[in-house]
Amino acid sequence: MNVESKFVWHQGKLVPYEKATIHFLNTSFHYGTGVFEGLRAYDTSKGPAIFRLKDHMERLLSSAKILGVNNLPYDLDTLMESCKEVVKANDLKEAYIRPMFYAREGGWGLSLKETVWDYSVAAWRWDKYHGNQAKNEGIKAKVSSYNRNHINVSLTKGKICGNYVNSVLAKAEAQRSGVQEAIMLDSNGFVAECTGQNLFIVKKGQIKTPVPHLILEGLTRDTIFSLIEDENIPLEEMILTRDHLYLADEVFIVGTANEILPMVEIDGITIGDGKPGPTCRKLQELYEKLIHGKLEKYWNHLDWV
Ligand SMILES: Cc1ncc(COP(=O)(O)O)c(C=O)c1O
Repeated sequence: MNVESKFVWHQGKLVPYEKATIHFLNTSFHYGTGVFEGLRAYDTSKGPAIFRLKDHMERLLSSAKILGVNNLPYDLDTLMESCKEVVKANDLKEAYIRPMFYAREGGWGLSLKETVWDYSVAAWRWDKYHGNQAKNEGIKAKVSSYNRNHINVSLTKGKICGNYVNSVLAKAEAQRSGVQEAIMLDSNGFVAECTGQNLFIVKKGQIKTPVPHLILEGLTRDTIFSLIEDENIPLEEMILTRDHLYLADEVFIVGTANEILPMVEIDGITIGDGKPGPTCRKLQELYEKLIHGKLEKYWNHLDWV
């Protein structure tokens, strides 16, 4: 994937893509101390709208808070506005949006004490994380040999850059095994989440999803909860084991980047009948309507740019 973007909102203003650079001697780059978000803007009949903008930017601030940072240079309103501006400046109808706080100076010696922070946000066209074929036909996954970050190793409620080495290792291992995604267990062996997505299973008409103790509680997960409620399908947050996955009628994963993606094979075991199931299909259909502004009930989730 090539990132193609004309302008980036960089350190307080829109600059041409080539000018949005950061020096090699930046401690967020060295130690993984940046915090970031991933959002999407969708085309609607009233123009492009950013999905759950405020929630994402609040989570960005929460990520900084749990990292122990309290001297960020921008407030929530400016952050929200920066996302809108970068979508507008690039004339994008649909976009993936990537805001990030990172060190501008300080932070050497692994100390956050005197770190000064800066912020940039880019937007570009990134159609589908795993591709449209994956959305329609489903993907294969593997239970990773890497555990999800333990809460006393890293803080999983934040999108802290360094956390993602854990995801990258799991994803690389999965890809070397010839499958597209990794399912990560917690250090007790219970299902946590995927590398950048939350997971759901369907069994005998009931939907189940892991308890939130170790996962990033995704905004897509939260949105799916509402759609499940609208459809009157029973939903339970519970401890899930890998055999729950193997024995499920359906497994699907959700996240901003890839939206709703069915899993049709895990560890070489066929899930259900090996095709995306009806519950996943229904939720995909409703989610598609919701993000494109076709469900008025959810207009509060859309910020028109
Ligand atoms: C580890 C992890 N889990 C879950 C998610 C899904 O979160 P969301 O639906 O808010 O994109 C993400 C993506 O941000 C993630 O990085």
